[in-house]
This record gives sequence, C-alpha cells and structure tokens, in this order.
Amino acid sequence: MLSALVRNNTRRLVAGPAKTFVRSGHIIAVHRDTKEDNPEIAFEFTAENKKRAEVIIKKYPPQYKKGACMPLLDLAQRQIGFTSISAMNYVAKVLDMPPMRVYEVATFYTMYQRKPVGKYHVQVCTTTPCQLCNSDQVMETVMEKLNLKPGEVSKDGLFSLEEVECLGACSNAPMLQINDDYYEDLQTKEEVAKILDGFAAGKPPAPGTTKRESCEPFSGPKTLTEPPLDVATVTRSDL
Ligand code: FES
Repeated sequence: MLSALVRNNTRRLVAGPAKTFVRSGHIIAVHRDTKEDNPEIAFEFTAENKKRAEVIIKKYPPQYKKGACMPLLDLAQRQIGFTSISAMNYVAKVLDMPPMRVYEVATFYTMYQRKPVGKYHVQVCTTTPCQLCNSDQVMETVMEKLNLKPGEVSKDGLFSLEEVECLGACSNAPMLQINDDYYEDLQTKEEVAKILDGFAAGKPPAPGTTKRESCEPFSGPKTLTEPPLDVATVTRSDL
C-alpha cells in the first residue's frame, strides 16, 4: 500500500498523470481449478529432475529441508512451464511441508507463474526507480508491439506479458526481463521494439545493456578503478 502511494505521488510529480495498467493475479492470489491446473492432474519430477532435487535437498540439514522449497518450485516450473497446484502439492510432499506453506511461497514471488505463460514471458518492472526512468514508455511499447495487456498470453502462445515489482536491476533502469534474461537501460521505444522483434524472429538479442559495461555511471567508473588487490600479498603464505 505504502509503495503504491509513493509510486503514484512520485509519478504525478515527475512524469505527469499516471498511466493505468491492469495488474495480473499476483495481487489476489486465489487458486481456482481450471482445465490445465487442478489437483486431478498428476505431477511428479522426471527422473532427471528427481536427481537434481536430491542434490538440492542435500544442501540443507535434514530438519531444514524445507529451505529447498524455492529451488524445487523453480525446478517444477521449468518442467511444465508454470507452477500448478499439483506441482506445489508435490513439492510440499517431497519436503514434508504443509501445502499451505508452499502456496504462500509460490504466490509471494512473481518468478512463479501460477498459470501457463508464453514461450517468451515478458516482465516489465514498474517500481519507483524504473518508473522514474520512464518504465511507462517501456510498458506501452511492449503492449503496442505484442498487442497484449499485462496478464495476457498471445494467441500463438509466443509471448505473455506481466507487470512486476523491482527485479533488482534498478541502477540500469528501466528494464524488462524475458524468460531468464534482463534487458536494461531501455531509454527508447526503438530499443524495446528491437528486442521484441529479435525474439519474434527466433533470434533473441544478447541480454544486458548496450550502453555501458555493467552498472557503472554512464560517464565511466568512479570507484574501484585500480586493479583488484592480490590477496596473496596480504595473507600468510602457509594458509
Ligand atoms: S525498480 Fe526496476 S529493477 Fe528495481
């Protein structure tokens, strides 16, 4: 609530009247059985994913194996394309957790898709730092190009669109995420359109930013400009 107030007021001060985008189901996380997502649809990890899950679970002390909830949900999502009710129930069973605890995790983080998404899932960040750098323009361009509103999937199943909160790349705002990759410093409509055109043509462009090395100031690095310290020169040689 507070962040929404701050965002709306900042928006008025800096960027004029706010644009209204319809937010998708992460705000009200209620499960409704559908044809493709109901408890009658069986789920279990493939043999390969069972081995992966075992490796992940072993990283945690046995009494804390529920710590593997997030990576196991991610594994399940990568297996079937979204985080179904059956996948959540399966993860709960594997980790000896009450299913409700797994539902709480899966509905809190936007990385878990609670309904099927497109082959390329586009997530546009509109939290304050991105909003101040004109994420409205990024969102409008994506909506125009894909003819989608947030929460929708294109008819051919190629693209889906979601509005999300901060994705942790604020210093390279505004940005969007497509599947696992970040596209940053998106200052013009043309840059956004070019990225989407690349995906539509089956040639995803290189992720990251085209404007700087990483997240240093546009005018060049101001800190850490010397070669990194060689730790061997300041530690005991017998260690
Ligand atoms: S506000 Fe957009 S990445 Fe942090």
